[in-house]
Amino acid sequence: MQAIENDRSSLIESEHDYILNTYKRLPIVIDKAVGCRVIDINGNEYLDFLAGIAVNALGHSHPRIINAVQEQIFRYMHVSNYFYQDTQIKLAQNLCRMSGFSKVFFTNSGTEATEAAIKLIRRWGLKNKKTNILAFSGGFHGRTYGALSIMDKPRYKDTMGPFLPNTQVIPLNDIETLMSSVNSDTAGVVLEFIQGEGGISILTPEFVEMLMELKSVHNFLLIADEVQCGIGRSGRLFAFEHWNIRPDVIIMAKGMGGGLPLGGLLVDENLSDIWETGMHGTTYGGNAVACATGMVVLEELESGLMEHVQSMGEYFRRELEKIHATNPKKVLQVRGLGLMCGLLLSFDAGLLVNALLERKAIANAASGNVLRMVPPLIVGKTEINEFVTILQKALDSIDIQ
Ligand SMILES: Cc1ncc(COP(=O)(O)O)c(C=O)c1O
Repeated sequence: MQAIENDRSSLIESEHDYILNTYKRLPIVIDKAVGCRVIDINGNEYLDFLAGIAVNALGHSHPRIINAVQEQIFRYMHVSNYFYQDTQIKLAQNLCRMSGFSKVFFTNSGTEATEAAIKLIRRWGLKNKKTNILAFSGGFHGRTYGALSIMDKPRYKDTMGPFLPNTQVIPLNDIETLMSSVNSDTAGVVLEFIQGEGGISILTPEFVEMLMELKSVHNFLLIADEVQCGIGRSGRLFAFEHWNIRPDVIIMAKGMGGGLPLGGLLVDENLSDIWETGMHGTTYGGNAVACATGMVVLEELESGLMEHVQSMGEYFRRELEKIHATNPKKVLQVRGLGLMCGLLLSFDAGLLVNALLERKAIANAASGNVLRMVPPLIVGKTEINEFVTILQKALDSIDIQ
């Protein structure tokens, strides 16, 4: 045991020596992960309601994901986008069929998909004599310059400027400001229908209605950032479907690759010829192994997983509402759709994250005072009940005066 502990301490020390200090790590060194559990190198088992930050849609070590990886790596791993690749083409075909959208561009991550969307807006804007891009307070679109330019949190942006011009970030769900900010120069509006990092904040129906009305008057592109809330997490393939509207472009990543780096754009028919050969590209984007696992995620969603997310999401929120009812001073609100859930707390969510971790459950803090819970989409009632029991004990352990 001592040897393992030394291992743990020396690994953590080496991390501090050799890896730039950008991440605030949880004090766990992971050994392996299966289903909804991660196991550290000391053999401690944790219930994982973070799922690699909403990435491991099918949980950890799903046999179909492992098979898909094995099959693909024995064929080839990477050949570059100089070649036609059947895994990419099949995945694109399935994404288009399931969404009703027209074409795909593959990336490796969410922020690259955001960059691609911004370039697409600018190009469309040039043709239509519009330049401005509008986004919303609390939104998170990635860490590259385009993405940061349409975000407002000082923590991500301070000391990093200057950012892209002709971008504006306005308050979320504020109809007055929306009306006064959109005009004939608006080329694109980028938004999450359910903000993840922003604290599981959901767009109001009135706000979306006004947005669509303004779109029909001013003709701008609507870009739904579905990196976190998409690919089944909200109980629909894409979260915007809950509002019965249709954007022009969808930004995707996270759950899409089922654990491997994969992202992309889905564009509507009116944009399917927006780029000419060579205008945009990436070396790794649409990697064959990631596309093979992406296919498994879509197949599972189509064969019952989406309905499972709906029923487990409803069950989880009912249980969270009970926690809210019995802890009204600590838990102010239950938020979410599907298996993207949050608790608005009257105190720093970091305290609850630590109290959960001590009791072997993992969730994280979003926007300071929101506990974000995004378990694998395969989560069952047993795991939800176990999590809720731990959550109550963790809440009990916190003194808020
Ligand atoms: C809504 C949203 N968009 C974009 C991103 C950026 O994705 P990535 O970290 O893969 O670049 C994230 C990441 O958390 C996100 O939640």
